[in-house]
Amino acid sequence: MKELKIQPIKNGTVIDHITPGNALKVLKILKIPENVSDSIVSAVMNVESKRGRKDIVKIENRELKASEVDKIALIAPNATINIIRDYEVAEKHHVVVPDEIVGIVKCANPNCISNSKEPIQPRFIVKSREPLRIKCFYCERELEDISSGLM
Ligand code: CTP
Ligand code: ZN
Repeated sequence: MKELKIQPIKNGTVIDHITPGNALKVLKILKIPENVSDSIVSAVMNVESKRGRKDIVKIENRELKASEVDKIALIAPNATINIIRDYEVAEKHHVVVPDEIVGIVKCANPNCISNSKEPIQPRFIVKSREPLRIKCFYCERELEDISSGLM
């Protein structure tokens, strides 16, 4: 018997190839359920794909903001953002982890100048991509738990 699969959507966004286990973090970035309005959201975790296991999130009738895509890149660096229009994949974008990450995650060091009253945006340098490791530009501390530092 064929496995029960999540259905194709008519219009909206499919976030595919999410690092397995991170679908709920993606929902958190998208502020779901708080911001869900009336669109249907579905998530599957740990499904088989051509390139190993993955999570998938589908949001009907909504396209993502650039700021949301930038955050998703940090917790799912291999994700694709598929815009679906009338059942077809109208656009496919790979998320991009930039060389420097500015204003997206906060430094975990309470004494860091980016956490002071100074108007300084948090800024991180990418040390490695697989796995993603980032270091604060100001205090040089590595951010261990990137998803918990998301602003
Ligand atoms: N999808 C969907 N509803 C549609 C069309 C596509 O939910 N009407 C989903 C597919 O299930 C898949 C993703 O959107 O998870 C991307 O679709 P597609 O590009 O057709 O899949 P692949 O070719 O497998 O994509 P990739 O090469 O990026 O893995
Ligand atoms: Zn710092």
